[in-house]
Amino acid sequence: MTEVDTDMRKESAIKFVDLAAQFEGHRDEIMQCVERVFVSGKFVGGEEVDLFEKEVADYCGVSHAVALNSGTDALMLGMSVLGIGPGDEVITPPNSFIASTAAIARLGATPIFADVRDDMNIDPDKFAAAISPRTKAVMPVHLTGRIADMDPILEIAQKNNLIVVEDASQAFGSLYKEKIAGSFGHMGCFSAHPLKNLNAAGDAGFLLTDDAEVAEKMASLRNHGIVGKGRSEIFGVVSRMDTIQAALLRLKLKLLPEVIRRRRDNAKIYRELLDDVHIYVPPEKPYEFNTYHTMVIRVERRDQLRRALSEKNIGSAIHYETPIHLQPAAVSLGYKAGDFPITEQQAGNILSIPVHQDLMPGDIERVVETINGFYG
Ligand SMILES: Cc1ncc(COP(=O)(O)O)c(C=O)c1O
Repeated sequence: MTEVDTDMRKESAIKFVDLAAQFEGHRDEIMQCVERVFVSGKFVGGEEVDLFEKEVADYCGVSHAVALNSGTDALMLGMSVLGIGPGDEVITPPNSFIASTAAIARLGATPIFADVRDDMNIDPDKFAAAISPRTKAVMPVHLTGRIADMDPILEIAQKNNLIVVEDASQAFGSLYKEKIAGSFGHMGCFSAHPLKNLNAAGDAGFLLTDDAEVAEKMASLRNHGIVGKGRSEIFGVVSRMDTIQAALLRLKLKLLPEVIRRRRDNAKIYRELLDDVHIYVPPEKPYEFNTYHTMVIRVERRDQLRRALSEKNIGSAIHYETPIHLQPAAVSLGYKAGDFPITEQQAGNILSIPVHQDLMPGDIERVVETINGFYG
């Protein structure tokens, strides 16, 4: 390799996500899924969806999965089937993707925020303090691939007779004390958006539950409330998973253990190599198995560092720059800056760096060199 070649390789892009590389790595198997669906002529529902539901439920050791068209619908429709609606309060962290809170608000229920801890997930003490006579449910969000501290959350919920709906959109396959995400509460909701570890080629989502009646109601609600042949018992919606997404997700489910292994290996290398004076990464607890949906570091002068990475052709992202309570959509909830200091402080110094399964040898070292060099 000449010096020029070496320089070119050095400056080649390290993408924050690389969906094209995911496709290239499994092109034949993906095209076989697509072909199978087109040959069948079945594009909505059918055997692929039934099999995906069975396989994903088995993977997580729960009795039922319901395939839907997004994680947002899993949350919103799932909560509606659990009887959550106007007049009810649902406690959730302000540090999440907007969809968690939006699903509560769209039902006419009131989102009540509880701040997070160092691990970026809901603080069980703050959750307990936010409970009122109108509280109906708690929605912990397993952010970044790490499960919230479920033991105290479940204990508090049980004592106060609250429903537990997990927003496990970022944590498929993650474990907490050997129990898998989505299997703790009354319902586990997942997104299979292209950016998730278990990802479709478009919008898709699903929920898990051990309650057969809830699963049955969901299956009808997502399809115009139809049960049996053309009989609608309720006015439903259309939130079915496309057959093609189910076929792809069945393949992706098989590939997932390797995806998770690679992401965890990448995170481990980052943890070993990043300068721990200037870069903070919340430590892994011995009982957690993080699937690293994102690798979030916390740093001073974050925006300058981001620019330095960009100059080296290295992608990064911020999850999330504006906490939900400070979004224009949340104005009517009446919160203000300063209400959730941990979330707000984290929003100012978090940076998500590339951790995906298709990073090439040397990529992580290049990212680390740039970050450590920036502070060095
Ligand atoms: C934490 C969280 N909740 C909910 C969602 C919504 O999922 P979807 O985009 O599939 O509706 C996402 C993903 O985008 C998410 O990351």
